Amino acid sequence: MTYDFDTIIDRRGTQSLKWDSMEDRYGVSPDDGLAMWLADMEFLPPPEVNDAIRRAVDHGIHGYPGDLASYHNSIVNWMEHRHGWKIEPNWISTTHGIVNAVNLLIQAFCEPGDKVVVQPPVYYPFFGAITSNGCEVINNRLVRIDGRYRMDLEDLDGLAGPATRMLILCSPHNPGGRVWTRTELETLAEFCLDRNIIIVSDEIHHDLVYEGFNHTVLASLGPEIASRVITCTSASKTFNLAGAMTGNVIISDDSLRRRFKLQMSRCGIHGPNSFGPLMASAAYNHGEQWLKELLNYLQRNRDRVDSVVRDSLPGVTSMPLEGTYLSWLDFWGTGLSMEEIVSRVQDEARLALNLGPTFGPGGDKHMRLNFACPRPMLDEALERLVSAFRV
Ligand SMILES: Cc1ncc(COP(=O)(O)O)c(C=O)c1O
Repeated sequence: MTYDFDTIIDRRGTQSLKWDSMEDRYGVSPDDGLAMWLADMEFLPPPEVNDAIRRAVDHGIHGYPGDLASYHNSIVNWMEHRHGWKIEPNWISTTHGIVNAVNLLIQAFCEPGDKVVVQPPVYYPFFGAITSNGCEVINNRLVRIDGRYRMDLEDLDGLAGPATRMLILCSPHNPGGRVWTRTELETLAEFCLDRNIIIVSDEIHHDLVYEGFNHTVLASLGPEIASRVITCTSASKTFNLAGAMTGNVIISDDSLRRRFKLQMSRCGIHGPNSFGPLMASAAYNHGEQWLKELLNYLQRNRDRVDSVVRDSLPGVTSMPLEGTYLSWLDFWGTGLSMEEIVSRVQDEARLALNLGPTFGPGGDKHMRLNFACPRPMLDEALERLVSAFRV
């Protein structure tokens, strides 16, 4: 292994949302607590990323960034090489991350009062993006079959009406780590095409997929589907660059793209900060070996979580993850109330985990654990969890 994923790097006092706000959010002090919630990783990115920033700092002048051609080319190459999806550089709009993009997309394509479908339990900022823009959330709940989530299109058929404008797909799914199959995606796309529903496909976790699974880019399924799909990607999850606040919105359809760009312009968003594209291009251009090693490391962490849960946490299950580094732990079998589960996790184990109910319906008595950290940190967290739930 060339890269070091084992060293623990102290992030306290670095303005880290994950570490420096966990006490406010979860009552867990960073002095003795472990931050295993928010989706960023405890690893350095590929070294070329920090080299690129160092060069910019050494140059020293931080004026407006403008020419994004090499950044866009790095995305075009990545999507073709890793995902078999051929895109044009002019299909890409660069936003301040994907939450920013989802909000702008709702503003661009929905009117207040319109309905927007999500598939909970799901990444919680989708809910706020919909309601804060005056739209209504339609919860098309995932169903659990053989321990994994499946989409329920029969349920969606009953929920979708004339005011249903958009569906926000999370692919791969967070939480629960499903990597949707080509067939599942085709069925969903056909459903939405028939009803003229735009699909915003949030594929930010697209590179974080384990052995035996393949991510399918929804918009790559054919021109008809692509004409109603907006794809959101970013280098931020793959290479641990969330602070870059730089996301890609990829739209092949000219009229959808024009409408989106108009909304960006109305909000005064004309480009990213200068560091984001530098970091992302360096990662896309030089980070492939790093990603390969990262995925091996994460896969072993995933398996470690699963084995500890299976062997030492009676009444708890972890959903088998096909992608993402976010274990979805189900505590229903413990018979404890949500309050009791939270108290054991936060007060006894001193762990900050995401609380399941924030992910919407289906999240009760669940917790999301981010295992993208050095193994000694993960082992410590798991030991604490086991002792907090010892009966
Ligand atoms: C599905 C999903 N979309 C978007 C984001 C956040 O994207 P950004 O940091 O670019 O706003 C996350 C972060 O966890 C996520 O899981």
